[in-house]
Amino acid sequence: MPLTSDSPTSRTPVQRKPFRLFKMLLGAACACSCLTSYAFLNQATKPQSDAADNSGINPHPIHLTLPQANPLSAVAQLGKSLFFDPMLSGSGRQSCSSCHSPAYGYNPPNALTVQKGGKDLHHAGYRPPLSLAYLYRQPPFSIGPDAADNDVAPDLNAIATSVRGDSRATKQAGVTPAAPAMVAQGGLFWDGRADSLQRQAYLPLLNPVEMANASIDEVANKLVHSRYRPSFTLLFGPGIVNDPQQLVSEAMFAIGRFQIEDPSFHPFTSKYDAWLQGQARLTPAELRGLLAFNDPKKGNCAGCHLSQPSRDGLPPLFTDTQYEALGVPRNTTLVLNRDAHYYDLGICGPFRKDLAQQTQYCGMFLTPTLRNVDKRAVFFHNGAYHTLTQVMDFYNLRSVAPEKIYPHDANGKLALYNDIPAAYQGNVDTTDAPFDRHVGDPPPLTAQDIQDIITFLHTLDDGYLPEKKKPSDTVHASQ
Ligand code: HEC
Ligand code: HEC
Repeated sequence: MPLTSDSPTSRTPVQRKPFRLFKMLLGAACACSCLTSYAFLNQATKPQSDAADNSGINPHPIHLTLPQANPLSAVAQLGKSLFFDPMLSGSGRQSCSSCHSPAYGYNPPNALTVQKGGKDLHHAGYRPPLSLAYLYRQPPFSIGPDAADNDVAPDLNAIATSVRGDSRATKQAGVTPAAPAMVAQGGLFWDGRADSLQRQAYLPLLNPVEMANASIDEVANKLVHSRYRPSFTLLFGPGIVNDPQQLVSEAMFAIGRFQIEDPSFHPFTSKYDAWLQGQARLTPAELRGLLAFNDPKKGNCAGCHLSQPSRDGLPPLFTDTQYEALGVPRNTTLVLNRDAHYYDLGICGPFRKDLAQQTQYCGMFLTPTLRNVDKRAVFFHNGAYHTLTQVMDFYNLRSVAPEKIYPHDANGKLALYNDIPAAYQGNVDTTDAPFDRHVGDPPPLTAQDIQDIITFLHTLDDGYLPEKKKPSDTVHASQ
């Protein structure tokens, strides 16, 4: 939930800080603004009237600006081999793709709450893996005003002092904010602690419950004695094999390059993408689901999981890349949670340390993309849920019937927001729909709405078109 130094304001994704495309992702320059156009939202939600004939065709098809699909560079090809090679792990049996499987939209290939890793593959992970798809426009982590592209690091202590106790801005799809809000956004991992795909890739390599290498030297040693040695010397010069730090750095650069260059990480082949371009019909249920997803009085999902293309045609990624404390219930099956005093607080720790004092961010986690969400079988940062129906019940009932979401404590008292210590429970979002209701109010969604939204989410699965048309082939469908 963003913080504001002003009185409560309605804010929407419309005035997002322009994304610095690719900047964090290995520094490639690309100047692209990602301001979303609400003209589109209005158009997209128009089918109620325009498409009264229920044709299911988008009455206002648009041309999507899709990433170029070029052959992989030599570095990216090397990265691709490394991504799928279990040789890089301490166990010798786990690759990046073990937890981020291309067949599942780079989600985990199973329904486990957390993946097993470590040298013996018996160590339970700390959090569910995120998808690696659609990170190509993820900006670096920042905290700052939402409206301007400022590269100056903000004075966090000053912000903490100025915003403490102030009201928050609210996120409502389709309403322009009156004032800029201070928000945490961008970055990789559930807590944004890695800034680039290159730096990120070190973390699983050395994480004792993931790929579990003891040191950079151990990884370098494997690479020096691997079949990749000739590729490294060819690409980075013969000296590379004598410089362990540089060698591993180039390997991680290569893996990052693969994730950016390979179209499988951002295929945009979902039915929704086809519909946006006028190339597919949504069924009545899918269309109703889209409307409920966008409707600020129903799901308001699009307030955070952006569903509209930008004005210049960048396809929506179903995240505003910002952080919220939703108060997801505690998952008692996590190994770390056996300790009743342990809390995963996201931005303020324990995995990231730099913002530990910024308690106004405790409990906040990244808003993940909903593209291919249907291919996941574990949801939220603590894997509290395993089905989309459970997720929908959480959004629908948390405010109006919390007794259906949280357990009761030993004294029979409802353990509201039980995965966040009492001192930080004020950070939980109670202002954005669908969380702005009160106990006993009617729930925002009917059983039919829930079913429709889930049906709509299925249209975000890639692979709808047998073969993705090249951007140049994309045409405006005749109306
Ligand atoms: C044992 C399972 C496992 C393996 C192996 C693994 N990861 Fe991950 N990955 C995770 C988990 C868990 C997270 C989320 C961690 C967190 O938020 O703290 C994650 C997060 C990520 C993210 C951040 C995604 C986002 O949306 O912010 C990237 C990028 C990533 N992994 C890349 C890799 C690469 C590259 C490799 C191979 C070098 C790899 N992973 C190997 C489990 C794994
Ligand atoms: C106020 C912003 C906000 C709104 C509104 C919102 N979400 Fe989310 N969504 C988030 C955040 C933040 C997370 C991750 C929270 C966590 O793990 O603690 C999330 C997670 C999810 C996940 C789990 C994804 C995964 O990979 O684990 C699903 C599914 C989801 N949201 C669907 C929806 C739907 C459907 C709606 C509308 C009913 C909705 N969201 C409304 C911010 C929001």
